[in-house]
Amino acid sequence: MLATFVAVAGSDYAVSLDEMLQAAAEVKAQGHVTAHRDTAEISTSPKAKKQPLPELHHVVGVPLAKAMRPTEKIRLGDKQELICASCHGLEKIDETPIEQVDKQATNFLLGGPYETLTDFCYRCHSEKTNQRPNIHNMVDEQGKIREQHCTYCHEKPLKRDQVYSAAELKLRVPREVICYGCHLKTTHLNALQHQVKPSKEKLQQLKDAEKKLGISLPLSDDGKVMCVTCHSPHPNGVLKPDLAAAKQVANQDLKTGISYEQHPWGAVYTEDKQQRLQALEHQTGHLQALEYQRIKTEVLLRLPAKDGSLCLACHTFTDRQ
Ligand code: HEC
Ligand code: HEC
Ligand code: HEC
Ligand code: HEC
Ligand code: HEC
Ligand code: HEC
Repeated sequence: MLATFVAVAGSDYAVSLDEMLQAAAEVKAQGHVTAHRDTAEISTSPKAKKQPLPELHHVVGVPLAKAMRPTEKIRLGDKQELICASCHGLEKIDETPIEQVDKQATNFLLGGPYETLTDFCYRCHSEKTNQRPNIHNMVDEQGKIREQHCTYCHEKPLKRDQVYSAAELKLRVPREVICYGCHLKTTHLNALQHQVKPSKEKLQQLKDAEKKLGISLPLSDDGKVMCVTCHSPHPNGVLKPDLAAAKQVANQDLKTGISYEQHPWGAVYTEDKQQRLQALEHQTGHLQALEYQRIKTEVLLRLPAKDGSLCLACHTFTDRQ
């Protein structure tokens, strides 16, 4: 997927975190590196049963690459290889069943908690070579449009005050899949499940919401929900504000982007959903956050999700008073 996009856009994108983890898992599966726990002998009890590593886990038992310049001293094994304690601060993590590992503990990842997982990765991997430019950052500090960003997706820059039909957008990749080069289909819970044709009632509700709020919630050519039904690809300031396609949440802070905060209900939620989310993880191969968090800041959404407005454009939640 990434390769497809690189080919069309001619950019030299570094991989995303998900892709990195996927790559790590593939490497592991091919057996190029040992990912066995035997290589990570931090346990003192010979009888303790080693647990299997979670799927898509980072490689273990490999030496720290020469080019790596860790920001701090890293604990390594006898053969200078990665052990559990190189990354985790929890004792006997290798003997603890995965579901009992406290991922909320501050030292679950050494030196944590981290604002984003990539901050942790950069302890060893170079931030410079692994970062990818945020393509949605289309307006510079002076408010000028970065036209070179438009042509990642559009064959040529469009007029910012004009409404275009789907065909006139001259997108390099169809609207339905244009986000996949850089984001996963399963980028978040429900992203993929939403890509269906709305029922007649939902469609009517959607059309009413568009009209009432003066917004655009575009569906695919065959009438299905897409990523860009909920998300605007452009930040504020690109399209002329009175266009329906320009309407979105007000936040300009693309650097922080969509962020979350912990909530006291977290513990209850985790307990309640643990089993179902684990089943889902087995099914999809993706780890889903076992937490209840609240959205703190949001960007690139056509309506706020924080207060439910986005969802209410298509859904009627009858269990709410
Ligand atoms: C190079 C760093 C690194 C090493 C070495 C490492 N881990 Fe991890 N581990 C991670 C990261 C990163 C995560 C995922 C954190 C996340 O997704 O929030 C993780 C997650 C986990 C989880 C939780 C998985 C889940 O989804 O609940 C367990 C359990 C775990 N590691 C065990 C181990 C054990 C046991 C070892 C030693 C054999 C080990 N790890 C070595 C980086 C490492
Ligand atoms: C404690 C140091 C350390 C941390 C922290 C760390 N890594 Fe690594 N990582 C390594 C080492 C060592 C290797 C193996 C050497 C290499 O491939 O360069 C590696 C290899 C990889 C590979 C390539 C596997 C391969 O063989 O090509 C990927 C992908 C990867 N890490 C992703 C991540 C991600 C994502 C994170 C953060 C969640 C992370 N790493 C955090 C040390 C670390
Ligand atoms: C990440 C891909 C992507 C990038 C980059 C991008 N666009 Fe778009 N653009 C889209 C998609 C998808 C649509 C159709 C969905 C929509 O209307 O919001 C679209 C629609 C438009 C429209 C039509 C709006 C309407 O009312 O019909 C205009 C105008 C536009 N883009 C201009 C731009 C300009 C100017 C830039 C560069 C500053 C740009 N785009 C960069 C993906 C992109
Ligand atoms: C039904 C509406 C909807 C659809 C469809 C949808 N998203 Fe989202 N997306 C959201 C909302 C709401 C958030 C922020 C809150 C959250 O994570 O639930 C979000 C968050 C994100 C984030 C921020 C990262 C994160 O996990 O918080 C990315 C990236 C993203 N979406 C990309 C996509 C892509 C790519 C698709 C298509 C495969 C897609 N979204 C489909 C509503 C949607
Ligand atoms: C050329 C690569 C590229 C394409 C194509 C692309 N994005 Fe992104 N997107 C990024 C990068 C880079 C970021 C910055 C955050 C990151 O690194 O994940 C980002 C951030 C986002 C965020 C905010 C996430 C956050 O955590 O703050 C959303 C939402 C999002 N993209 C949605 C989309 C949608 C919807 C599409 C399809 C129209 C799309 N993106 C196409 C590269 C891309
Ligand atoms: C553009 C319309 C649209 C928006 C906006 C929207 N949804 Fe949906 N949602 C759908 C459609 C279509 C389905 C598929 C089932 C159906 O038609 O009843 C669906 C299904 C769901 C389901 C059931 C999923 C399943 O696996 O059965 C949940 C839960 C859900 N949506 C939550 C949300 C939440 C939360 C939001 C706001 C962040 C949201 N939706 C925003 C159209 C939408």
